[in-house]
Amino acid sequence: MFRCLGIESSCDETAAAVVEDGTKILSNVVKSQIDIHELFGGVVPEVACRTHMEVIGPVVEKALADAGTTLEEIDAIAVTHAPGLVGALLVGVSMAKALSAASGKPLIGVDHILGHMYATRFAFPDLEYPCIHLVVSGGHSSLYYSRSEIDHDLLGNTVDDAAGEAFDKVAKILNLGFPGGPAIDQRSRGRDPKKVYFKRTYPAEFDFSFSGIKTAVLYHVRGQNGKGEMTLDPDEAADVAAGFQEAVVDMLTKQTVRAAKKYSVSRIAVGGGVACNSRLREKLTAAAEKEGLSAFFPPPKFCTDNAAMIAGIAWPMSKAGCYSDLTLDAVPTKVHRARFSEKKGGQA
Ligand code: KG4
Ligand code: ZN
Repeated sequence: MFRCLGIESSCDETAAAVVEDGTKILSNVVKSQIDIHELFGGVVPEVACRTHMEVIGPVVEKALADAGTTLEEIDAIAVTHAPGLVGALLVGVSMAKALSAASGKPLIGVDHILGHMYATRFAFPDLEYPCIHLVVSGGHSSLYYSRSEIDHDLLGNTVDDAAGEAFDKVAKILNLGFPGGPAIDQRSRGRDPKKVYFKRTYPAEFDFSFSGIKTAVLYHVRGQNGKGEMTLDPDEAADVAAGFQEAVVDMLTKQTVRAAKKYSVSRIAVGGGVACNSRLREKLTAAAEKEGLSAFFPPPKFCTDNAAMIAGIAWPMSKAGCYSDLTLDAVPTKVHRARFSEKKGGQA
């Protein structure tokens, strides 16, 4: 039995969870800071760090208590150490290192993206490999060819904004509030997504680009210099939101299905906050089925940031001997401690 305490603090959620043998979730505590950052219209790094500092102790205590366990009964402590806001990551990493040093339990530094990919396991424990993974969140939009939970080749990336970032920025332009993804998803329901058309762009074989469409929305709403007043009524704004969402969903769907076909992989798994998007779930599932492929989406609570995915991925990592020591550092960019290579794709 492998009982793991996971800690996650890479952005604006302070989270801790206890997971047994990779899939049995004994507790899953997520303290969101949305209400605080909403006041600023986006995540403010300094505020995020300070809030993590305030709540991380109680969040970890609650995760242990909800699981009916204690630190003595834990087999390892896993923590997100990359990528993310460095100050925010440092809070979780420091907590995990302190707990590890005090208890003598081993430490596992986890790449957040591996956690997002692993989350599919909670809903589909028998998911087989290889599969194509699409990870779409506030900070990432990437496609991977995955041979196992810890063995991924990066096929493509966003060349500018992440998909979730584009949702958040467009929602701001349309005065729909923060975070933008859920707001745009909700306002787009029941609208005609063809009423306002935005161009789909494909920068390279499996890459994404979302900054052009964000600017196109800005010009559409505020005139050709992007500086005019936002004059759309709520009905018009909802049509723009629906047209924007449709374009992003089409771009994500097309590149993902194209990757699955090129590498003859029949399974597509999607992770990250944008995987909550109802239109993406609908269209990618339909496009996959049309090609004889299957698309797997975890339930929304495992798409957005959580620590269960960090405690979960620690299980295959521990089996592969991917442990860290007390020199573990917070790294703002991707590191992928488990096996990971760039842009090879497919040839196992
Ligand atoms: O994975 P996540 O919780 O944090 C990061 O690792 O970034 O993703 C947060 C992102 C935000 O940009 C948010 O707007 C987006 O996921 N998001 C959505 C939806 N729910 C959350 N985007 C589109 N549609 C949604 N329903
Ligand atoms: Zn995330």
